[in-house]
Parts: sequence; C-alpha cells; structure tokens
Amino acid sequence: MIIFGAGGDLTKRKLIPALFHLCHGKLLPESFAVVGVDRLEMDDHAFRDMMESDVQGNLGAAWDPATWARLRERLHYMQGDIKDQGAYQTLCERLSQIDAERGTDGNYLFYLAVPPMLFADITRLLGAVGLTSEGASDWRRVIIEKPFGSDLDSAKALNGMLHETLDEGQIYRIDHYLGKETVQNIMVFRFSNGFIEPLWNRQHIDHVQITVAESVGVEHRGAYYDTAGALRDMIPNHLLVLLGFLGMEPPNSFESDAVRDEINKVLDAVHPLTPEQVLTNAVRGQYGDGVMTNGEQVSAYRLSPGVAAGSRTETYAALKLTLDNWRWAGVPFYLRTGKRLHGQYTEVVIQFKRAPTIMFKDADTAQMSPDMLVLRIQPNEGIQMSFGAKIPGPRMRVGTVNMDFCYADYFGNAPATGYETLIYDCMNGDATLFKHAETVEKGWEIVESVQDVWSALPARDFPNYAAGSWGPPGADDLLKNDGRHWRRIRSSETS
Ligand SMILES: NC(=O)c1ccc[n+]([C@@H]2O[C@H](COP(=O)([O-])OP(=O)(O)OC[C@H]3O[C@@H](n4cnc5c(N)ncnc54)[C@H](OP(=O)(O)O)[C@@H]3O)[C@@H](O)[C@H]2O)c1
Repeated sequence: MIIFGAGGDLTKRKLIPALFHLCHGKLLPESFAVVGVDRLEMDDHAFRDMMESDVQGNLGAAWDPATWARLRERLHYMQGDIKDQGAYQTLCERLSQIDAERGTDGNYLFYLAVPPMLFADITRLLGAVGLTSEGASDWRRVIIEKPFGSDLDSAKALNGMLHETLDEGQIYRIDHYLGKETVQNIMVFRFSNGFIEPLWNRQHIDHVQITVAESVGVEHRGAYYDTAGALRDMIPNHLLVLLGFLGMEPPNSFESDAVRDEINKVLDAVHPLTPEQVLTNAVRGQYGDGVMTNGEQVSAYRLSPGVAAGSRTETYAALKLTLDNWRWAGVPFYLRTGKRLHGQYTEVVIQFKRAPTIMFKDADTAQMSPDMLVLRIQPNEGIQMSFGAKIPGPRMRVGTVNMDFCYADYFGNAPATGYETLIYDCMNGDATLFKHAETVEKGWEIVESVQDVWSALPARDFPNYAAGSWGPPGADDLLKNDGRHWRRIRSSETS
C-alpha cells in the first residue's frame, strides 16, 4: 500500500490506525507492506517513530504493543515531491526492492491522501512509469478521497483525467460513511429479513427523513468550506449515498456492479427540481453566534478563520426530494444537514402510514406518534422501532413505545475508524462500497439545480439560525407545510 501524503492528517488519524485494527484482527497478509510518500525529509525509522507517537495517541485504550510491532516493521518511507516525475522512477525502484524483500507480488494499492488537485497529476505520473499497468496475476488500484469535483463539470473533468490512465475498475472513490456498520446494515436489514421488504414502498411508507447533523464548525477548513457550502460538501456524497441504499431495488447479487447499478437507478429516479420548486423544496441557512449544548459560547460562521466577512455560504441545507419510480412515487424524502447544530447525530427515519384506528374510538390516537423505524448511523449505532401499545389499565388508552436494538449491546464495541472495511475491501477487489464515476456525476446533477438558483439569488437573511439550535425555521416549515415534522432528537441521543 503506497500512501501519498503520508505526513498528513488523514494518514495518522485514520489510515495507519485502520491498518493497526486490520493487523490486530489478522486481516493483513503476511507479505503486506506500506510505503509512505511525502515531502518531509526522513528515513524509515523516523517515519515509524512519528507514526508510533501519533497512532498511540489516537488509539488510546485500543493500543497494543504486540500488534504495533508487527505493523511497525512493515512501514517504509520515501521522501519526494509528488509533482516531480523523477520521484516516480525512484518509487518504482523502491517498490521492486520491497517486492523482493517481502514477496508482495507486485500488487499495489495507491492511496491518494493528498489535496484533490493532485489526483490527476499523481495518476498520470504513475501511469507514465508503468505503475498502473496490471499484469495477468497482479493488480493496481487507486483510492481517492472526496471531494470528487466541486460541481458536475469538474467531476466529469476529474473522471475524464482519471480514465486517461486507469480503468474504472481500478478506481476506488472512498466515502468513509460507507465504512460504517449501520450503513452497510441497511442492505442486510432490508434484504435478509422477509418481514421488512413487503412494507418498504409507497403503500406503507409515508415519508423518509435523513439527518446528518454536525455540532462542529468549519474548524481549519474555512477557506475550502466557504467555496463549497453545506449543499455541495455533504449532500452529493453522504446523504445521497444513504438515499441510494434506502431506495434501491434488491440487486441480483451483492457483486459490486449489481449493487452500484441499483444505487445509480435510484439517483436517476430523483425528480429534478425546477427553479420554482427550488424556492419551495430547498432551504438554506447559516449559523450566527450561539451556545452549544456543552455550554460553549461559539461565534458566527462569518468569524471563522478563512471565511469571508460577509459570506453568503450556507452552513445548513435541507431538501425535499421525490423519486419517479413505481416503489416510491409520492413518498417525499426530506434531507437535512448542517454545522454547529444542537448535536452530532446521523439518522434515517422511515415513517409509516397511520393505521385506520377507527376501532379505538375512545383513545386519543390523533395525538399518537405514527409508527416509525429509526436507523441510527451515529452515535450509538442501532435500529429503533416505535409503535402503538395499550397503556395498562381498565381504560383503552394507546401510547407509543420503542423497541431498541443497539449494536454495542449485541456485538460489543470493536474499536474502528470506519476505514478498515474499505481498505480491506479494496485489497480484495470489492468495490461495492466505493463510488462509481456515474454515481458521483448523478449526485452532482441532483444538487446542481439547487446550487444554480442559490447562486443566482444570494441569501439575504444570513445568519438565520443560532449555533446550538436545530437549524433555520424554514427547514421546519418544509415539513410543516406537508403536515409533518422532523423527528425530535433528544440531546441524550447525540454526541
Ligand atoms: N483529514 C481527514 O480527516 C480527511 C477526511 C476526509 C477526507 N480527507 C481528504 O484526504 C485528503 C488528505 O487530507 P489531509 O487532511 O490528510 O491533508 P493534509 O494534512 O494536508 O495532508 C496532505 C499531505 O500531503 C503532502 N503533500 C502535499 N503536496 C505534496 C507534494 N507536492 N509532494 C509531497 N507531499 C505533498 C502535504 O505536505 P505539506 O504539509 O508539506 O503540504 C501533507 O503532508 C484530502 O483530499 C482531504 O480532502 C481528509
């Protein structure tokens, strides 16, 4: 595994810790080795020492000296400028040497943990020295990190540049959300349980909510974020991926092409919003000063480092989307995401249609919550079912109760970064949880109609929600206008 950008944040916080967990679980082959590439001047020993102190700090209680000793001696380092063609010749020589020493068979996984503007240069230069050419018995794969472009045109241009050197089958576009157990469990829950699939359609489902709430601000990413905004930063990747898994038809198999084809069909079915519909079906917001749940007083987005003083970039976006297909016709999917919200929380809510409760005439059924399935993605991953039950006593009263499955209770809390499954799958050639070029482009197509209107009509009411709240009032109105409301998330459910 060759990591470009081995001196950076992603490598020390996610990649090497993920390799540590794979090593601990005996999921790395004996002949596995890492070559880190970065511009810092150091040798293998200095790189190993640097990773040791960073990773030990990041892993906390999960640190295990014996596992680290096994991984540590597999770490190598090469200093070089990633834009310099000469560095790739040196890399070839280094890899041949490591192949010979460790018997790595010439299978290379290139992980581009660098800013996206370097993706095209790196793949071109790797191609120029033959490092992307696969033989009859060896493979060459490239993992790239989001963002995959900043709009439809730039995504197409990036895909075009990657395809000049690589086949689509060699490109693994990572979205670490897909490494989360609960996201993968959406497929298992839907397709391995006979009872759920017959209910999973417009006959029984009233609407779906997808919430990806962040309590953090833009931190050190202000300059980038101010050019992107919540819509482009979060919706084409994380939220639409969830929409794909929720909305897809059962694939013919769990082969990656079969699954990804079904996800693409869902995105294809998203009804394009006209400019008039954007005005009613899309809501944007930007946070002002406020107090977070932990009592921390935080200042407005516009005061974040790297952000323009009068910025009109949205830090919150909510959309109402519909799908033009047989299964989902007439079922709205409400999506919301934002920064500096009341808590850190990701969930999917499937709200079922109400039963004709005519037989419980004396019970106040109108006051009851509708039946709901909540898929908690983070924190406290699990699945909760809310439904009506009789309140004990001589009178017929109906109340809402919860059945709650919590991953940690059943399976324990295995420490993980979310990258383990993805790196492991890539090594095994399984691209199911990675994004296809088409999926990326379809995601951009969906948000483009909204972005066009928002750019043409800059928001005049920003900031329009307080840090620490649940977002702008317009997002509540989006559902209220349809006689619905967002599920009330309690502080205790968030992190
Ligand atoms: N960090 C995360 O948690 C995270 C999460 C999701 C996605 N990502 C994505 O992952 C990628 C890496 O993010 P990061 O946070 O790790 O970035 P980072 O901390 O800036 O790391 C990038 C590394 O690449 C090095 N580099 C840049 N240009 C180089 C060149 N020409 N030659 C040699 N080395 C060079 C940098 O060195 P210098 O410091 O000397 O420039 C730095 O060590 C980005 O695409 C980002 O969007 C990161």
